[in-house]
Amino acid sequence: MTNIEAAINKLHLLSQYEITDSLEENAPIITERANDKHAIANQIQALFTEGKIHQNCDWAAHMTTTISTDSLVGQLLSSHHNGNLLSPELYPTLNRIKQQTLDWLCQLFEQSHGHFTSGASYGNLEALWQAKQQYPNRDTIFAAKTAHYSIDKASQILGLKVQYIATDSDDKIDLAQLRRACELNSPLAIIATAGTSASGAFDPIDECIQIAQDVDAWCHIDAAWGGYLKLLPEHRALFGHQLAHANSLCFDPHKAWAQPKPASILLYQQPASPMMSIEADYLHHQPDSKLPGSQGGQAFLPLWFTLISSGVESLRCNSRHALGQAQLFTEFLAEQTQWPIFRSPSGIVCFETEEKLTSLIQQGVISTAQRNNRTVYRTVFIGNHIKAKALIEKLQPYF
Ligand SMILES: Cc1ncc(COP(=O)(O)O)c(C=O)c1O
Repeated sequence: MTNIEAAINKLHLLSQYEITDSLEENAPIITERANDKHAIANQIQALFTEGKIHQNCDWAAHMTTTISTDSLVGQLLSSHHNGNLLSPELYPTLNRIKQQTLDWLCQLFEQSHGHFTSGASYGNLEALWQAKQQYPNRDTIFAAKTAHYSIDKASQILGLKVQYIATDSDDKIDLAQLRRACELNSPLAIIATAGTSASGAFDPIDECIQIAQDVDAWCHIDAAWGGYLKLLPEHRALFGHQLAHANSLCFDPHKAWAQPKPASILLYQQPASPMMSIEADYLHHQPDSKLPGSQGGQAFLPLWFTLISSGVESLRCNSRHALGQAQLFTEFLAEQTQWPIFRSPSGIVCFETEEKLTSLIQQGVISTAQRNNRTVYRTVFIGNHIKAKALIEKLQPYF
């Protein structure tokens, strides 16, 4: 029996225990001895129930969705294999699969090198670390006010400053302001966000890349959320024609591609330069040009298995379903209310109303965000389960 089979058997056996309601009293504790099986079964059940929220057709609060069976198979394979690609020579099969998946992603995003990471926060940090190596005498990053907060965190870690650039009425970076800021001070890096976390807006990618080139600065594209649109020919234009000239780009398959977390990539136009000279003499390959250390297949096996088992087209189908529901939702809301509505190209729809929608926030139906300096309600269209009609039904009592 493989350890995958043993794990599934154990889950199956535990699921046969009677579930009691008093979960709080019965919660397993961390102790020297194994807990009572009923208590464990109860807790597993509670986790299943909690995770089911992502299957609700009116779940639109955040960028998390339920993962597919293919991805789950990939995740099990990764846990079963458990190799460490710090020693790729020991795991030729896993390493080949990693390279195959990476090559496909590099081609999609017009970059030439890269690696998997544990989330775009790490990707943004590492990209700026590389930028700092290239421009050691500069210390300021230019980013729109709408850039993800991980840019700010990264700049603090690296001892850099962020200069925030105003946004236009569509929540995109104001190019005139960006140019003016560049005339006054040469930035270390310019960040262009392809799908902002709050409202899904796309900064003008070509223009940001061009401005960075004009002032000889690094250009990093944070496509953590909106990167999935690059796979859809009808939305590719959002990425312009100069993407191959961006210095780096990060994308999170664990968002719109519904992969298990953490699954993220950081891609570079040029090979990343070594960032330290310390030698790990027990390794054949020095991990000196990237942030991650130990890594198995968790960041790519679920995606790879999805791609080989259901095909690239399956990702497109899921994305088109969610985007179609975003459009329907916008239409329904416009027909039935006078509320101001803002539909972004990347499947986030925001709206304003005087009504207090606190209970819908608590249920995970919607969230709030800042858009154009105003607090708005936000819906994120992701995954196969989401249905515009179900969301409208939840909102109807407030119309
Ligand atoms: C645009 C953008 N960048 C970066 C991140 C950070 O990604 P992660 O949570 O994978 O670190 C997010 C997360 O929502 C995001 O939307």
